[in-house]
Amino acid sequence: MSPAAADPYAAYLRAFFARWSSLYDLFAAPIGFVYRAAARQAGAAPGRRLLDLCTGTGELALRCARLGAQVTAADFTASMLWRARAKARGRGLRLVEADARRLPFADASFDVVLLSFALHDMPARARVESLLEATRVARERVIVVDYDPPTRGLGGRLVTAMLASFETAYLRGFLRAGGTPAAIAAAGLGVERRRRALPGLFGIWSVAAAVQPSTRRISASSTPGSSSTSS
Ligand SMILES: C[S@@+](CC[C@H](N)C(=O)[O-])C[C@H]1O[C@@H](n2cnc3c(N)ncnc32)[C@H](O)[C@@H]1O
Repeated sequence: MSPAAADPYAAYLRAFFARWSSLYDLFAAPIGFVYRAAARQAGAAPGRRLLDLCTGTGELALRCARLGAQVTAADFTASMLWRARAKARGRGLRLVEADARRLPFADASFDVVLLSFALHDMPARARVESLLEATRVARERVIVVDYDPPTRGLGGRLVTAMLASFETAYLRGFLRAGGTPAAIAAAGLGVERRRRALPGLFGIWSVAAAVQPSTRRISASSTPGSSSTSS
C-alpha cells in the first residue's frame, strides 16, 4: 500500500499546502491581530519555551520568538516549513518536521503549546489525537486558535460557504461537528478560558496541560526516573 493510500488525510493536506504555500502569508496578513492575541495569551517572553504546532509558514512562531521566547515550530508539510525557515533566518527558531498526531517530544517539554488554524484542516480522529499530543507535551496549557463562526441560520451558512471556498475539504465537517469546543470535548479535555477575537469569526481557547505541575511534582517524587513525569 502506498503511503498516500495509508494516510489519505496527510497526503491530501501536504498536496493542498504545497499548492498554497507561496500565497499563504498574503491570506494570513489580515489576521495578524489574532496571532498577536495568541502570543500574548501564551505568555511569549524571554525564558519561556513554546511549541507552535502545525506552524505552517511560521507567522505565529516568529511573533513569539520576537518577544524573546524560545520557540520550536513543527509541521508535516515540507513546503510550508521551507517558507518558515526562509523567514526565520537568524531569529533562533527551531524548526522540526513532525506529525501533530505523534510528536517526537517528551511529556511537558514546553511551557505552552500553540495550535493555530490547524484543527479545521483535520478529520475528527486527527483532531483528537493532535489535541491529546499537544496537552501531553505542554507543561501549563495549550492555546487553540481557530474559526469560531455562527453555525446556524443564514449568517452561519454564508460564513461557512465563504470559508469553504478557500479552505480544505475538512472545514465543513469540523464546523458541522461543533468546531473547536466539540473537538476539545471529544478529546476528553476541558476549556479553561475562551476568548473571542473579532466576535463571530475567530476564537482563542485555553486548554489545561494533561499533567498539571503540582501533580507532576508529586508523581515525580513517587516514581523516580519515570519519563512521563519529567519536566
Ligand atoms: C492553515 S495552516 C495554519 C498555519 C499556522 N499555524 C497559522 O496559524 O498560520 C495549517 C497547517 O497545519 C499543518 N498540519 C495539519 N495537520 C498536521 C499534522 N497532523 N501534523 C503536522 N502539521 C499539520 C499543515 O501542514 C499546515 O501547514
